[in-house]
Amino acid sequence: MRPIRSNELRELYLNFFKSKGHSIIPSASLIPENDPTVLFTTAGMHPLVPYLLGEKHPEGTRLTDVQKCVRTGDIDEVGDDSHCTFFEMLGNWSLGDFFKDEQIAWSYEFLTDEKYLGIPSDQLAVTCFEGDEDAPKDEYSAALWEKQGIKKENIYFLPKKHNWWGPAGLTGPCGPDSEMFLIRRPKCGPNCGPDCDCGAFLEIWNDVFMEYNKVGEGQFEPLAQKNVDTGMGLERVTCIMNGKESVYDTDLFEDAIKVIEELTGKKYGEDPEVTRAFRIVLDHTRTATMMIGDRKGITPSNVDQGYVLRRIIRRAVRYGRNIDLPDGSLKDVAQAFIDKYKDAYPELIENEAKIKEELEKEETKFQRTLQKGLKEFGKAADKAENGIIDGVTVFHLYDTYGFPVEITEELATERGLKIDKEGYEKSFAEHQSKSKAGAEGKFAAGLADHQEETVKLHTATHLLQAALQKVLPEEDIKQKGSNITAERLRFDFSCSRPVTKEEQKQVEDLVNEVIAQDLPVVMEEMPMTEAAERGFFGVFESKYGERVKTYSIGDFSREICGGPHVEHTGVLGTFKIKKEQSSSSGVRRIKAVLIPKE
Ligand code: ALA
Repeated sequence: MRPIRSNELRELYLNFFKSKGHSIIPSASLIPENDPTVLFTTAGMHPLVPYLLGEKHPEGTRLTDVQKCVRTGDIDEVGDDSHCTFFEMLGNWSLGDFFKDEQIAWSYEFLTDEKYLGIPSDQLAVTCFEGDEDAPKDEYSAALWEKQGIKKENIYFLPKKHNWWGPAGLTGPCGPDSEMFLIRRPKCGPNCGPDCDCGAFLEIWNDVFMEYNKVGEGQFEPLAQKNVDTGMGLERVTCIMNGKESVYDTDLFEDAIKVIEELTGKKYGEDPEVTRAFRIVLDHTRTATMMIGDRKGITPSNVDQGYVLRRIIRRAVRYGRNIDLPDGSLKDVAQAFIDKYKDAYPELIENEAKIKEELEKEETKFQRTLQKGLKEFGKAADKAENGIIDGVTVFHLYDTYGFPVEITEELATERGLKIDKEGYEKSFAEHQSKSKAGAEGKFAAGLADHQEETVKLHTATHLLQAALQKVLPEEDIKQKGSNITAERLRFDFSCSRPVTKEEQKQVEDLVNEVIAQDLPVVMEEMPMTEAAERGFFGVFESKYGERVKTYSIGDFSREICGGPHVEHTGVLGTFKIKKEQSSSSGVRRIKAVLIPKE
């Protein structure tokens, strides 16, 4: 093993697979094109789903890339040695081309050959699927690994929870996988293995053998084509190759760390709490830089991706205070990341000014209210009854001081308190129903630019999708994109032909009927698997058992969605389609508005 820098690792990986007949394709956007259930691209396979299902890819049947990914599920863990909300996934794919024999041989070669990673074979362990009622034990892969040179005692069989990759939702390509681990130190006990969290085994790569299409809960059909989908974490492997304990100690962060050290006069790595704050600022600024600097770049807002972005910037600001990071500094930290990543992602240079501008704008907005908000929080925390901060206060902190609910929750946890989340959601929803005029003056933090309208249009989008599915039952209507401004919704959906004027009228009538019924919009959180069983609409997610938010509107619409939504459909006014047009091949676009009552 030898020290290797991140830029070199990207090149090494791509060129290795190029030498095995793969086409190098660019990273797709961080904002998914075709998936209503996730806000960000979470894995390299994500943008390739249509091709894994059989569509022809213009670059052929062997592909390799480095994909930008965002996963915010573990945001609370950021600050430890390994968690990041942004990461890069090195991957290669077979679209109905080669299968296990080739992939396992190549994986072994890349991992062990001195020309590539040069990891000694006896420091490697692998896992294979142990088999269940859905698919047999993967003895075949295990035998291939052994033939390559992995010691038999380092080959483990594990159940679906560990060795199956694919959708947890209703549909999608999936299959057993085989994961590769670096053995870092001796096992912690006789039952220790790659599924133990003692840290002896560190996952470095995942080869997924996508042989199935999940068509429903517990229903797996063989895929027409057998695919390979792989993923290797760039940060993780750079860390391992340099013998570091933490991904934050790799070259990816070194320049940004220097910038923060200079700005704060504090030293990274000296004190655990300081180090944690450094890492949170580093991670969140990097993720924000990538989100704003993406080709389909987003800006902070109160819905969907924009809300996640707002939340991470504000969280960075909060932790920045803990290390005396001067106001307005995030853009300087971002500059270090732009310089670091500009060769891999040239869009960062194109968007350099925008990245810095948006960061500064959002930081300033939050700085204005943060101090007062923290004081307000302190008072509320002192008064908290039974250790719970009431929902109205949590909403007040959001509404007036721009505290995303997650930040208030975190502040509460730090003081050993809880927040009344349900009460918060109730206050939030009540607020939505208030008149527009009343609301506008209240958003002192400049937080909710036109929030009420966008929330209404978001609910209307759910109604529109459900109505389209009902009016055009023979079409497989699925959301392909959604964009909401204060004035209108824009909804892209799969549909093989134009929606006629008459059908548009039927859709409008259906939506307006549901509005007239004033149905409650009900939010429930549940495991993805349960949502799938109960028929909530959504295509796929990355991991089993993940909890998702669902919204149902009577029996009319059921969707997996992050919200927010109005509480009752009655507040929406009158729904009107303004335009129906083609968006791209097989995708139609509808623009629609809500006309207020009165
Ligand atoms: N899609 C697989 C993963 O994300 C490779 O682990």
